[in-house]
Amino acid sequence: MPSKALVQKDEKLVIIGAGVFGLSTALELSKRGYKNITVLDRHVPPVVDGSSVDISRIIRVDYADPLYARMAKEAYQGWTKEYADFFYQSGLIMLAKDASNVYVSKSKEIVRSQGGHVDEFFDANDVRKLYPGIKSDFSGLYATHNSTGGWADAERSIQRLASECSLAGVSFITGPQGTVHSLRKEGSRITGVNLVNGGAILASQVILCTGAWSNRLLNLSHAASASGQPVGFIKLTPEEARELESTPVMINMTTGVFCFPPTPGTNILKLARHGHGFATEAVSEATGRIISSPRRDGSNAKSGYLPDDADEALRDGLRQFFPRLKHRAWMRRRLCWYTDTPTGDFIIDYHATLKGLFVATGGAGHAFKFLPVLGRYIADCFENKAPTEIREKWKLRKDIKGSNAPLMVGDGSRGGPPLRKLNSVEQSKL
Ligand SMILES: *[C@@H]1O[C@H](CO)[C@@H](O)[C@H](O)[C@H]1NC(C)=O
Ligand SMILES: *[C@@H]1O[C@H](CO)[C@@H](O)[C@H](O)[C@H]1NC(C)=O
Ligand SMILES: *[C@@H]1O[C@H](CO)[C@@H](O)[C@H](O)[C@H]1NC(C)=O
Ligand SMILES: *[C@@H]1O[C@H](CO)[C@@H](O)[C@H](O)[C@H]1NC(C)=O
Repeated sequence: MPSKALVQKDEKLVIIGAGVFGLSTALELSKRGYKNITVLDRHVPPVVDGSSVDISRIIRVDYADPLYARMAKEAYQGWTKEYADFFYQSGLIMLAKDASNVYVSKSKEIVRSQGGHVDEFFDANDVRKLYPGIKSDFSGLYATHNSTGGWADAERSIQRLASECSLAGVSFITGPQGTVHSLRKEGSRITGVNLVNGGAILASQVILCTGAWSNRLLNLSHAASASGQPVGFIKLTPEEARELESTPVMINMTTGVFCFPPTPGTNILKLARHGHGFATEAVSEATGRIISSPRRDGSNAKSGYLPDDADEALRDGLRQFFPRLKHRAWMRRRLCWYTDTPTGDFIIDYHATLKGLFVATGGAGHAFKFLPVLGRYIADCFENKAPTEIREKWKLRKDIKGSNAPLMVGDGSRGGPPLRKLNSVEQSKL
């Protein structure tokens, strides 16, 4: 295998992307003694249209996969210690049409096999006894409850991570000076990056942590694609917020719609859908080809546009979870860009043929919760210390020429309708 020679601690490393993958990697590598690390991004972290941003992310420990279940437990320690200021243990409820939901059944199996207890309700209305603030009708639904789950303030935890990186000596270059146009290639070696402003930054190792934007710089169409997931925010009055303050995070596994309790202080209610999402097509500046990616220039969050069916799905969710608020206008909406992979596994690996290139992406809509431990797992792969089981799971798949692009089926946790490609009129509104 090429490029697996140990990287020296004084070599220059460039990390593209200041989301949870890039920042956690930068911090961990600097803790391990790497002295020359530069993080590049289009915007200052928390990156306004990134996927590691806005007011909340679900923190759950229930997982239908043993590795992520273990990682989630480790991360949970971090959320209750170093990151405790940003973690809200509100409890978490998963609703489904019945107990046979495949993802829910598998999660239960894993919790039980690890000696845990599953709190389940065959009549989901019974969970309302635990959370009197819930005013929705859960008739005909099944629920599991875990009181250790909750949510984290995404923006503030990313801010903390970025300032820790800075204190550890990591350099940041953002804006046009840090926006990458393409990878610099000499033969089969990546030697740095070309910037949109015409400049270049040389590096002996480039680490690609570009999430949904990855296909712009490297053809990963066989391994990862971008999907937009709708998010909506509602401003509550202080009275409304108080009524809902002790409600849990709730996810309807059938529709994929989930919601958070109002954010303390700002009284903002957030709903989103963990579904199959919306696909777009963009022209890669680097290769001139059609790829799956959000826009590179400007902010993907600015227009606030949601396709009509996405808006309707969120509004249905609003009516189902918070019947009294069903007509309330959104204060803000956006598409949050997931990086989907065929099995929902991350991609953390050296590139097989391009030397000097390491890839850490493919969050598949579930990476943020690992913020306290993700960098450690990535750095272990970078230093060839990770166990084979993990290396295999997060391997960058070979691009088998002539084979069709795989379906990004994910890990079975998504609900709602299948992936829909936005038409050109819809795309022009993003
Ligand atoms: C980082 O590496 C570059 C390229 O080798 C070098 O010019 C620069 O002085 C190094 N910076 C630090 C802080 O070591
Ligand atoms: C919550 O999840 C954790 C981790 O999977 C498990 O150990 C615990 O028993 C669960 N508790 C309940 C009440 O479901
Ligand atoms: C990426 O690779 C696939 C499979 O080899 C190919 O079909 C596609 O045209 C490539 N796309 C780009 C943007 O290079
Ligand atoms: C959950 O989804 C089911 C199936 O679509 C729906 O009937 C139910 O109203 C939803 N409930 C909530 C609270 O989202």
